Amino acid sequence: MPMPRIDWHDLPASTRAAVEQHTGAVLEASTARAGMNSGIAATLHTTDATLFVKGIPTDHAQARHQELEAAINPHLPNASPRLLWRVQTGGWDLLGYERIEGRHADYTPGSLDLPLVADALVELQQTPCPDLPIKKAEQRWSSYAGPAGVEQLAGDTLLHTDFAWDNILITDRAHIIDWAWPTLGAAWIDPAVFILRLMDAGHTAPDADACARQIPSWRTARRDAVTAFSEANARLWDEIANEDPQTWKKGMARHAHDWVTYWRARPV
Ligand SMILES: Nc1ncnc2c1ncn2[C@@H]1O[C@H](COP(=O)(O)OP(=O)(O)O)[C@@H](O)[C@H]1O
Ligand SMILES: [Mg+2]
Repeated sequence: MPMPRIDWHDLPASTRAAVEQHTGAVLEASTARAGMNSGIAATLHTTDATLFVKGIPTDHAQARHQELEAAINPHLPNASPRLLWRVQTGGWDLLGYERIEGRHADYTPGSLDLPLVADALVELQQTPCPDLPIKKAEQRWSSYAGPAGVEQLAGDTLLHTDFAWDNILITDRAHIIDWAWPTLGAAWIDPAVFILRLMDAGHTAPDADACARQIPSWRTARRDAVTAFSEANARLWDEIANEDPQTWKKGMARHAHDWVTYWRARPV
């Protein structure tokens, strides 16, 4: 469920004071419109710098995700924003990031952002997976695939798994942000989740497939393994859309099924 988002000034005074110990006085703050999991997400302007803060209440169900997002940061490619500090005061758990002055990725067909996103994904796929309690793909999708299918998702690549357009910032390159769902698994899983976002932006299944072929792991992915994942992921999106039938969620579930239909019939 999306979290209501508050502004910087709505945080308790003790929380803001703890942040200002790191940043100096905050002169101006503007709340980010995009994203839905963080209770606060804002750009902060201080006398010396501009930075980005996001966070959730300390007792929130997603606290574990925030913990991991902080722990994984030093291990990410340089293009992902550096974590500068973490504050856990006044009932809030806040992460302070280097701010990226970019715009969200445009995933529509023909967008010049697409090769940049593919490059960032290829770079990520070469990043060693850190020794952290990262969930394995075969656990994450275990309730949606049979045991034989689930086995095919295993691998040792660090995956992001949430390639929503607003989790990518574009400057002269693409920056992958929002590391709340890191996963360890087969490398081609990230291109597979990227494909559904491309379809959501207007790509046909064959066009999205062709676009993902810029990523080496997708070109070499085993057909039956991708089938197992795609079917499991369609079941997951059905569940998400049934629990909270927002238009975009129902759209993602439809794309996931259209993708399975295309993939099953795809010539070898
Ligand atoms: N380091 C950053 N620099 C600039 N803007 C950012 C940064 N991190 C996040 N944002 C902006 O804030 C939005 C929400 O952040 P995100 O990390 O995706 O949180 P959520 O969990 O709420 O989706 C992003 O879509 C982006 O617009
Ligand atoms: Mg996000």
